[in-house]
Amino acid sequence: MRSLVTGCAGYVGSHLVDRLLKEGHDVVGVDNFSTGKKEHIRGALNNPKFKLVRADLLNRAAVARALKGRDFVFHLAANADVRFGADDPRRDLEQNVIATSNVLEAMRARGVRKIAFSSTGSIYGEPETFPTPEDAPFPVQTSFYGASKLAAEGLIQAYVSSYGFQAWIFRFVSILGERYSHGHVLDFYRALRADPKKLRVLGDGKQRKSYLYVHDCLDAVLLATRKADAPVNILNLGTNETCTVNDSIGWICAELGVKPKRIYAGGKRGWVGDSPLIQLDCSKMRRLGWKPKRTIRESVLMTLRGFKR
Ligand SMILES: NC(=O)c1ccc[n+]([C@@H]2O[C@H](COP(=O)([O-])OP(=O)(O)OC[C@H]3O[C@@H](n4cnc5c(N)ncnc54)[C@H](O)[C@@H]3O)[C@@H](O)[C@H]2O)c1
Repeated sequence: MRSLVTGCAGYVGSHLVDRLLKEGHDVVGVDNFSTGKKEHIRGALNNPKFKLVRADLLNRAAVARALKGRDFVFHLAANADVRFGADDPRRDLEQNVIATSNVLEAMRARGVRKIAFSSTGSIYGEPETFPTPEDAPFPVQTSFYGASKLAAEGLIQAYVSSYGFQAWIFRFVSILGERYSHGHVLDFYRALRADPKKLRVLGDGKQRKSYLYVHDCLDAVLLATRKADAPVNILNLGTNETCTVNDSIGWICAELGVKPKRIYAGGKRGWVGDSPLIQLDCSKMRRLGWKPKRTIRESVLMTLRGFKR
């Protein structure tokens, strides 16, 4: 496979690059380093089968150049943080919708037809069915991030029906593991390092969510792109378990050896678009022969140990 990985210096993208190189593939990575880090791809940069293109996906000519000679696109570059969408709605539109459109147009021009896309469980908003299956009633959007990812999914599907593309759309829960760069485990870790005596918690701490370890996520992505063969393959990715924010705080505090006073902001949601309950039905992915190897607690601890290292 001669793949292009967008967002190659990001948290999940850099692990994907490492995995593809380890399997012997030839990889071109694109990143504008808005949140990506060179240290994430230090190993890849020493591999002759990897080429880094420092470019912004909003630059259409640069995307077309990077795609030369490729036959598969893993499109991960995005504004990946759901939390600040309401501060600047244009960011999700540009980074998640226009950037995806540019990738698809460049693929069309270059005759590249296969795309795997990192979508999100946030597209389900606040669903009524739990665990939530891929064909849950058409979701009402509660965040600009979710709305932009759903729009990107729609664009990809239109390229499948209009130009004979094949797509793998993965709706991830929150991903945990080494190189983790945004989310509650990092926020709590930083806060507790600064002041181990108190911890401010968004919401009431009872929000209940599912999480997935980054290598379990990539096992699924790589397996599905080989085994799922429909024109459009939409797959939820998560564990069957859930935990509350309070559970996670308990594990983090025990690992760090601290007992802070918890100060709750209150309310069922931590921010605009936060879902009080996230649990995805991942039986479709499991039927392909995948199952996660790590529990949520283990994934939280692996993430923390990554920070400590
Ligand atoms: N991490 C999670 O918990 C999670 C959950 C659900 C979905 N996702 C999705 O997975 C993907 C990867 O997320 P992540 O957590 O690794 O995020 P990340 O921010 O670490 O990685 C995104 C990468 O894309 C790059 N990038 C952003 N905009 C770009 C642009 N216009 N041009 C070129 N490069 C650009 C960034 O510099 C960064 O390296 C994203 O699409 C995200 O929405 C992540």
